Amino acid sequence: MADTEPVAIVELGVDDAAAGLALSTEARWNQNEADWRFFLTNGIVFGVRDGTHLVATAALLPYSAGNAWISMVLVTERWRRRGIATRLVDACLDAARQRGLTTWLDATPAGATVYGPLGFTPTLQLRRLRFEHPAHEAPAMLANSDVGALSARDRRAMGFERNALLAEFGARTGSRILSHGSAMALTRDGRTARQIGPLVADNATDALALVDAISRTETGPLLIDAIASQETFIAGLTGAGWSIERPFQRMRFGRATTQSEELPFAVAGPEFG
Ligand SMILES: CC(C)(COP(=O)(O)OP(=O)(O)OC[C@H]1O[C@@H](n2cnc3c(N)ncnc32)[C@H](O)[C@@H]1OP(=O)(O)O)[C@@H](O)C(=O)NCCC(=O)NCCS
Repeated sequence: MADTEPVAIVELGVDDAAAGLALSTEARWNQNEADWRFFLTNGIVFGVRDGTHLVATAALLPYSAGNAWISMVLVTERWRRRGIATRLVDACLDAARQRGLTTWLDATPAGATVYGPLGFTPTLQLRRLRFEHPAHEAPAMLANSDVGALSARDRRAMGFERNALLAEFGARTGSRILSHGSAMALTRDGRTARQIGPLVADNATDALALVDAISRTETGPLLIDAIASQETFIAGLTGAGWSIERPFQRMRFGRATTQSEELPFAVAGPEFG
């Protein structure tokens, strides 16, 4: 593809997982190949190739009750600022429109500049926090929980169910679903850090106690994508040595279809909501 040629958008398949991973790794994102396989198997993933080389992607992941997530909007550095991300997100919106889906996304600051003009409106904000060196201290009391209990709680927080996603996460090697008091969270592997989320709890005290207990059992870096308005939770994390890495802006295209009954403390990740 010469620099001046119009780009062709193609639908990707599960064989593109390694090429997708190369793009998210270039952006220093945390997704691993299992994440890409989930999108390519359960979602509709569009891409642009330069010859055989994948240079851009965007994914539409249908959930339930007329909702879907858009994510993995990635354009390799050399192909940026030529409208490729805009066209790929447009393709996702077309696919969503055909299926009658309201679309959501969690945007990086760079992404928000692409989505605003397309008609996405801001909803809540997230803060990504990172804990570099868990101390691996004496473990606190932690109970194993099951994916059914987490799915039920996640449904109240999202306003719709994501059973397939949480079941797939829970079945991965290295995933754990743990609870402490009223708090419950899933921890899973990522490319460079393990991610805690979704995390649901009745209060910030229980949410912080669970994160503390989990981090005592971990040896590598950890990530949490916290809801920004959970200020006591975020202040507790930063006080315990977590650092705020970046903001994400949640945005919606289309009418709100459902109402959530509670706010989670942390989401599954900006790519999954
Ligand atoms: C964000 C990203 C996907 C944009 O891809 P792109 O193909 O360059 O985007 P487009 O060409 O469609 O940009 C459309 C408009 O968005 C705005 N925009 C895009 N990137 C921008 C940037 N880095 N800074 C400021 N404005 C930007 C501009 O208004 C642009 O229009 P213009 O080029 O006519 O001024 C790309 O920079 C990228 O992969 N970044 C790293 C990963 C990332 O943050 N992805 C978004 C996840 S939510």
